[in-house]
Formats: sequence, C-alpha cells, structure tokens
Amino acid sequence: MIQPATIYLNGQFISKDKAFISPEDRGFYFADGVYEVIKYYKSHPFCFNEHISRLRNSLAGIQIHYTGVEKLDSIGKALIEANQLSEQYAAVYIQITRGVATRVHRFPDGEISPTVYIRAFPMPPLLQEMRRGIQVITRKDIRWQMCHIKSIALLPNTLLFEEAAARGAGECLLVRDGYFTEATHSNIIAVKKGILHTHPDSNFILPGITKQVVIRICKEVNIQVVEEPIPADEVKDYDEWFITGTGSEILPVVMIDEMTVGNGKPGPVTRLLQREFFKITYRALASEEMSTDDW
Ligand SMILES: Cc1ncc(COP(=O)(O)O)c(C=O)c1O
Repeated sequence: MIQPATIYLNGQFISKDKAFISPEDRGFYFADGVYEVIKYYKSHPFCFNEHISRLRNSLAGIQIHYTGVEKLDSIGKALIEANQLSEQYAAVYIQITRGVATRVHRFPDGEISPTVYIRAFPMPPLLQEMRRGIQVITRKDIRWQMCHIKSIALLPNTLLFEEAAARGAGECLLVRDGYFTEATHSNIIAVKKGILHTHPDSNFILPGITKQVVIRICKEVNIQVVEEPIPADEVKDYDEWFITGTGSEILPVVMIDEMTVGNGKPGPVTRLLQREFFKITYRALASEEMSTDDW
C-alpha cells in the first residue's frame, strides 16, 4: 500500500489523510494567503534565502504576521526526508494563510494564528521540454496589479494556463497594455542580437528567482541584459525566447501562437544559459553530471 505523504500543518508533522483545515479559514474564503515553492536538488535547497526573503515580502505585502519563518529550513529538510525524497529532484511547497476567522472582509481583531501548510513532492527536470522547447500562446494579462506578491489567488493564472494546455501549449505569455509581463507560472526572457531582454521587477510581475539567477549568469559570461518591457507587437524581432521558473528552470520557447521562433529549435544563447544553469544546479548541488555536452 502506498503510504500517504507526511505533511506539516500548524506545528505538526502528520499524515496527509489526517490533515484538516477549517472551512472558516480565510484562505478558503478569500484566497487570503501567500506561498512559495523551493526546489531541492537531492536534498540541496536552491536559492533558499532568496525564496525566504520573497516569502517575507509577500507576507508583509498582505500584512500577515507569521513569526515562524526561521523554522522553515528545518521543516523543509524534515519533509524531504520523511517522504523519501532525499535522493531525488523535489520541491517544498509552503502556504501561509491569515488563519481562521468569521467571514467578514475586515482583518480579524487581535492576533489570529496563520494557517501554515507545507508539503514536499517530486519535481523531476523537464528534460524533453528543455531539449526540444515548448509552444506557447499569448493572452491578455487579466490579473490584479500586485503580481509581485506570491498570492494563492491564482484563478486568472489557472484559467489562462488551462487555455494554453487545452491548445497543446506549455505556457501562456501575458500581455498588459501592449507589453509582455510574464507567464502564468514563469518569467519571460527574449534574446535579440545576443542581448537579453526581460520585464523589470515591478508590481506587474513576480520577481522570479530563476530569472535573477539567469541575470547573474549573464554578468559572469558577459551577456548584456536589458530590463525593459518587451512590446508585444515586436515579437517577431527577437531571435530566441525562453521562460524561467523553479519548476521550468530554463525552457526554450520555439513557437508563439502561430509563429515559429527562429528555426523552431532552442537557440544558442538559451542553450548556453541552460548549460551554465545546470553547472550550478544538477552538477554542483546534486553532484551529478547531467549529460549536457551535446546540449
Ligand atoms: C507568476 C509567476 N511568475 C514567475 C515565476 C517564476 O519564479 P521563480 O523562478 O522564483 O520560480 C513563478 C513561479 O511560480 C510564477 O508563479
């Protein structure tokens, strides 16, 4: 029999089938909460401090006072171990909602305990997609104006991603006021004449940690990065496109709506950045050679 996963809920490590959350939780009523997803490369968390600092910003952004952030490192490690994920590529999902209170719009009077739910699950690399690239669609960015907060209110993202998936696409690029912002669960980067272009961090995008790592790599390998919004009507002017994210890592985009990007294969700058990224994830953290020589 498959053992139900061990999860963490409000201070306790318990079997997932024993975990219950009140229907009065403000996360359930209002999506009043935030989350983070951290990848663990064979037990090594990737950019842990960066994720925690973004979580602190998200909590502050919606005024949730959670005092247990320091414990998240040990909880994450314990869940990876308890779920036999130590030798795998896995992820830890952390969700913190404001807590349980009578349903009124105003924040509850006095302190209530946030609801803290954390789980670990396998997150294998998307090898085929990373090698071949994916097709994407573009749609209007119908989300709110505080996208820098990693809110659990993801209905627009799921609706848009559902449409992409139903059309056989791997992501949906979002356009706000004529400019690409980001995608439903990843950031967008385009390459023109060897220079990277991406939306600057602002309230219209999530400050992606993978995107930040890519920018850092670019500095090391002398690739220029321009952080300015990309006009949607100039989509044809860029030689390469890719998306970044904790789960996606670096995924080349080879088709945007009806348009084939370049020759329909991942471009040289994207492949170079993938190789450099693997050096600091699979090779260094997981102490394993991903065979990237022919990448
Ligand atoms: C809307 C959105 N943008 C960008 C990203 C990529 O962020 P990161 O690289 O930190 O995973 C995510 C990740 O979940 C996301 O949901």
